[in-house]
Amino acid sequence: MLGHQDETRAAYDEVVDLYASMFANGLETHPFARNMIGTFAELVRGTGNLRVADVGCGPGHVTAMLHDLGLDVFGLDLSPAMVAHARRAHPALRFDEARMEALPVEDGALGGVLSHYSMIHTPPGELPALLAEQVRALAPGGLLLVSFFGTEGPEPVRFDHKVTPAYSWPAEQFAELLAGAGLVTFARLLHDPASERGFLDAHLLARRP
Ligand SMILES: C[S@@+](CC[C@H](N)C(=O)[O-])C[C@H]1O[C@@H](n2cnc3c(N)ncnc32)[C@H](O)[C@@H]1O
Repeated sequence: MLGHQDETRAAYDEVVDLYASMFANGLETHPFARNMIGTFAELVRGTGNLRVADVGCGPGHVTAMLHDLGLDVFGLDLSPAMVAHARRAHPALRFDEARMEALPVEDGALGGVLSHYSMIHTPPGELPALLAEQVRALAPGGLLLVSFFGTEGPEPVRFDHKVTPAYSWPAEQFAELLAGAGLVTFARLLHDPASERGFLDAHLLARRP
């Protein structure tokens, strides 16, 4: 049986062109996300450590945005086809085929980690270890911005995301997971309009003390 990462890899490998045609034109119609990313970039610049990973970068458009915001960013994704697309679309930038569960950086190397809807496929029971890995890679004072589908209920909800199964999360419960990993969440944005699936969009900004 395939593990969830193999399923996710195979599913995204299948839909790269369609996904890129739908999402890779930047975040022009997503002002809240764009502004949270801008705030993240400003705060990372303020730490003086510009090294950032865009984890689960997909077609690389957010990686390119972070580069334009002055960060020394690289993208990584477990889907080889996504990585190939990102490299073609942004040849001056670095993209690695890698898993968020094993970041290709030394301990404490990064001023920031950005996860834009890339932790949505991780089963809830595996999120604590995944978050611990992001914390390992962050320098003290480093920032994590995580964006995901929010729900008002008490528990995460598994749903049929168009590509492969995903989970929406109560934002406070996700913030508790961040706290459990040793991060301090200091900004939360939950907003409508939600995606066509009816979920809120949630953005949590946290710092490694
Ligand atoms: C919904 S897409 C988001 C892509 C991009 N961040 C964006 O905003 O358009 C999720 C991406 O996360 C990647 N991904 C999911 N789980 C991953 C993991 N464990 N390690 C690395 N990449 C992962 C998928 O291959 C896919 O490209």
